[in-house]
Amino acid sequence: MTDEVKQRKAEHVQVALAHDISAPQAASWADVRLVHQALPEVDLEGIDTSTVYLGKTLRYPIFISSLTGGHPDVAIINERLASIAQDYGLAMGVGSQRAALVTPDLAATYGVARAKAPDAFLIANVGAPQLIGQRGKPAFTLDDARAAVRMIGANALAIHLNYLQEAAQPEGDRKAKGVLARMRAIAEHVGVPVIAKETGAGVSFEQATKLVAHGVAAIDVGGAGGSSMAAMEAQRARERGDQRAGAIGALYRDWGIPTPIAVVETNAAAPDLPITATGGVRSGLDAARALALGATLIGMGFPFLKAATESESSVREFLEQFLAELRVAMQLTGAASVEALRRVPVVVTGATREWLELRGFERTLRMMARRGADGMDDAFGREERA
Ligand SMILES: Cc1cc2nc3c(=O)[nH]c(=O)nc-3n(C[C@H](O)[C@H](O)[C@H](O)COP(=O)(O)O)c2cc1C
Repeated sequence: MTDEVKQRKAEHVQVALAHDISAPQAASWADVRLVHQALPEVDLEGIDTSTVYLGKTLRYPIFISSLTGGHPDVAIINERLASIAQDYGLAMGVGSQRAALVTPDLAATYGVARAKAPDAFLIANVGAPQLIGQRGKPAFTLDDARAAVRMIGANALAIHLNYLQEAAQPEGDRKAKGVLARMRAIAEHVGVPVIAKETGAGVSFEQATKLVAHGVAAIDVGGAGGSSMAAMEAQRARERGDQRAGAIGALYRDWGIPTPIAVVETNAAAPDLPITATGGVRSGLDAARALALGATLIGMGFPFLKAATESESSVREFLEQFLAELRVAMQLTGAASVEALRRVPVVVTGATREWLELRGFERTLRMMARRGADGMDDAFGREERA
């Protein structure tokens, strides 16, 4: 079991880098149109990108998503990402810490994140399915969760929701009953805020409502449209000759709630909780769209992973480009701050709109489209009178 988990950590990174595991969606960022302001009266240089997340000020609304740790080969990835998180004041997650809870020798492959980023907002990571007993494996205890937090001096604990991934994993944990109650117990006693974090299939209004009721402090919607854990596991399953898991992973490759939709649904259910938009965010413009839809942070996995396997300066270059793109979107929408960006008018079209209308979000869509357009009713009235 010990070696199995450790080996899996290395394989995930190898598979993600060597194969296409993306699952683009019809309902996606291109459906989310920000309204251009021809005279924005905002200087590009004067834009304030800082944001408050779970009580801490980040310099940018960006989360380096939970990716890895647990194998000596991947420690360098966490090291490089943490250096950047420290320099830029970003939030950063480590991958599932199960490997090091089972084999304490591996703790340093995660702990390196805190060593390199003494001031960053770091997020520990354990899996929801492991909070209950699975096929002979005992459940994670509250002490295990506390140990994961201590291992990286974490500011928060993410509990990842990955039942799709488990379904496509040859050795997957498939029991699900009782997890919500365990999440509540951990949220109450672990001593840091708990973030419920999907991993590519998205969080719905209904699920977000339950998560709020069970005491989570934040939600990472982890929507469909970016890296597909099902595709990743399908590849691993096939390599191991497990055709059944492989076929399930392939069939469900693009299953899930697209990220922009998950942001709107979750925001409606949890308006007071910070929301992270992860899953297929690939440009500063996508990030601006997510923030305008109501996200507090955006998260990215694959783009950071890819750059970090090259070098720290590749991560820096990627981030600088991304930030330049984000600032342009902020200027052109007249948003001098992230808070202002969350109030700019945004028009949702196409398959994203269709989904949201059928799910009953017409009013939300209309309100978002007409933000700041108080004079419009008068203008329409004039037209009608003429
Ligand atoms: C190689 C790899 C490993 C991952 N491992 C974890 C993990 O251990 N825990 C977790 O919560 N999410 C994990 N994720 C999911 C990411 O945190 C993120 O949700 C996902 O990659 C979607 O973002 P993206 O489209 O920007 O890549 C992993 C993703 C990849 C690609």
